[in-house]
Amino acid sequence: MNQLLNRELARELNQHTQSWNILDTLKYLAEKFRRQITFSTSFSYEDQVISDIIFTHNLPITIFTLDTGRLFEETYKVHSRTLAKYDKLIKVYAPDHAKVEKLVTQQGPFSFYESVEQRKECCHIRKVEPLNRALKNMACWITGVRGSQSESRQNWSKFEYDDSHQLIKYNPLINWTLEETIAYIKTNHVPYNILHDRGYPSIGCAPCTRPVKEGEDIRAGRWWWENNTSRECGIHSND
Ligand code: ADX
Ligand code: SF4
Repeated sequence: MNQLLNRELARELNQHTQSWNILDTLKYLAEKFRRQITFSTSFSYEDQVISDIIFTHNLPITIFTLDTGRLFEETYKVHSRTLAKYDKLIKVYAPDHAKVEKLVTQQGPFSFYESVEQRKECCHIRKVEPLNRALKNMACWITGVRGSQSESRQNWSKFEYDDSHQLIKYNPLINWTLEETIAYIKTNHVPYNILHDRGYPSIGCAPCTRPVKEGEDIRAGRWWWENNTSRECGIHSND
């Protein structure tokens, strides 16, 4: 599929599925893209909603996670509870061991605090490159991004064409509020990351995430020591 076709396809999908619910849209996409559709989970509130829909309805959509090696204990716990609840597989992508060995040998375990470049280098090795492998040969990538998470995400549509991975990106919760997301989790008894109850609305790697204070931005706790960056790790290329 070439770029033009995909941009047009994203536009068409936005129109075609406008009034559909998430389940019907996922069923349609699973049929349309067959084994070339996948969902990435970081086990956030948002991601747990989507996993619940996929697993409960046995949809033929693979789910994967990027285990950076630096995640919170609490994130591994919700990963484990999710496997136990649904009895399904979640494919794990780990970073290239040689690259991690070289990075930590040469720069130590906290190089990301030194400069934006070093932080991006770590994100590239631990997240971006494994994501590229996970998305290889895929035509549709589902994410748990919500518009109200950040200013740049507010401009996103449900369907986007992702230039860097050359595929259709589907963001089913793009118009959901945090309250709607939490209500789904509670109503459906979905396992969630306990850090959400401790002031962490957005959760990434442990050394790079802190809780936010009342009134602070949802993503203010991500790479909090960086003042003027977009607070993105590079996996969402249209940020
Ligand atoms: S990030 O770019 O800042 O890390 P964020 O935490 O907001 O992203 O999550 C947005 C979406 O990116 C998630 O809903 C999920 O689809 C994907 N994502 C983020 N981190 C991971 C991860 N570690 N493994 C798999 N998917 C992830
Ligand atoms: Fe490395 Fe921090 Fe990026 Fe995780 S969030 S990959 S620890 S720089």
